[in-house]
Amino acid sequence: MPDRPLTSGQQHGRRSWAEPWKIKMVEPLSVTTREQRQAALDGAGYNTFLLRSEDVYIDLLTDSGTSAMSDRQWAGMMVGDEAYAGSRNFYALEEAVKAHYGYRHLIPTHQGRGAEHLLSRTTIKPGQFVPGNMYFTTTRLHQELAGATFVDVIIDEAHDPANLHPFKGNVDLDRLRALFARVGPENVPYVSLAGTVNMAGGQPVSMANARELYALAQEHGVKVYLDATRMVENALFIKEREEGYAEHSIAQILLEFCGYTDGGWISAKKDSLVNIGGWLAVNDDELFEELRNQVVIFEGLHTYGGLAGRDMQAMAIGIVESVQEEHVRSRVGQVRYLGELLESWGIPMVLPVGGHAIFLDARAFYPHLPQDVFPSQTLAAELYLDSGIRSMERGIASAGRDPETGDHNRPKLELTRLTIPRRVYTQAHMDVTAEAVKAVYDARAQARGLEMVYEPKYLRFFQARFAPL
Ligand code: F0G
Repeated sequence: MPDRPLTSGQQHGRRSWAEPWKIKMVEPLSVTTREQRQAALDGAGYNTFLLRSEDVYIDLLTDSGTSAMSDRQWAGMMVGDEAYAGSRNFYALEEAVKAHYGYRHLIPTHQGRGAEHLLSRTTIKPGQFVPGNMYFTTTRLHQELAGATFVDVIIDEAHDPANLHPFKGNVDLDRLRALFARVGPENVPYVSLAGTVNMAGGQPVSMANARELYALAQEHGVKVYLDATRMVENALFIKEREEGYAEHSIAQILLEFCGYTDGGWISAKKDSLVNIGGWLAVNDDELFEELRNQVVIFEGLHTYGGLAGRDMQAMAIGIVESVQEEHVRSRVGQVRYLGELLESWGIPMVLPVGGHAIFLDARAFYPHLPQDVFPSQTLAAELYLDSGIRSMERGIASAGRDPETGDHNRPKLELTRLTIPRRVYTQAHMDVTAEAVKAVYDARAQARGLEMVYEPKYLRFFQARFAPL
């Protein structure tokens, strides 16, 4: 018998993960009253993107650029080489990208959408078709602005929040074959493949699917480009769920996966643990040459692409930290912790829980609200009012309008995203968040929905304004 009582964790045979870091600096949070939050929400047109951050308590708007950098990364900022051309930090970044993503040629960009812009305008001809495993807002818009029509080729399971398929991000290869047959592969500049599909709820793609996709695309002479924004999290899901990968390291899995693509781009504001930055990287010499021509027009010289030297250094260090096993395990573990708590209380959400966020299922949350009164936007507003927690709409407002008909795109998924920044909040913050969601769920019958009173032309969800019905 042990001479000390067991903790409850030990009694249940549980072995917890914990963060592989400790806190060295803290940033105070603002605590507000319900009246203050009501005034802030009115001022923001019921759009959480228009709130001031000082009016927010726990900020789960996004995991983009909101991570805490390590002391090593901050030290890296101090050795920024701010030369206009040939900064040593560029070469450090090039080395880190080559080592962990495997691509030969690197173009730094100010963030992910800068890379999407360059890739779209150099590879797409008007009238072509770009298939992808579900759309992402900025990715699809750049493809459309370059004249392409986006075609969703994700598997059907991805559109069903309750379906427990372990790789809901997979490409439906029959659907892709059918597209090649319908429009001709010469009219498909590339397949737009994303790891841990954001709009599907952070759902991963399997290694087998990437391998088969690449073979199919090569058979038709079509390129595959990877949105590697949250590919590190995808690698953890492969390790946990796919046969034959349990003993592989995250770094090995990442490298193998990228090997089934011709190039990729990233918003480094996610996986790579920096507050700003991105890149585009390709293996093809000719395409690289063209991209080097374009980057100087739109981003900056090819050795900084809109970034300060110090930002490239922090990114290079962040890439190395991002593939460390304990880091990825605790990052995804925290998201899973919140998910399991909510699931145990019967809160409707996308399952399995994804890598970067909890996606509440607003359709199931508010069955009495039709999609036209913006259920996910309503849920984000109610959650903010209840507790000062900021989340984000990922439903009909984010989906925008059909460029042909002008009608709303009506996505099957109507979700509200609670996105967890990396290395920022504690388990107690997750408890407080779960309890707030529960309170809003208990009051769900009173929700009335919203109408859109101002609609911007592009990416409307960022700046649209709403009023309560
Ligand atoms: N691709 C994915 C999968 C993303 O999630 C994002 C950004 C981008 C590309 C664009 O990158 O913001 O650096 O220009 N997603 C953020 C989010 C905004 O909140 O999910 P960016």
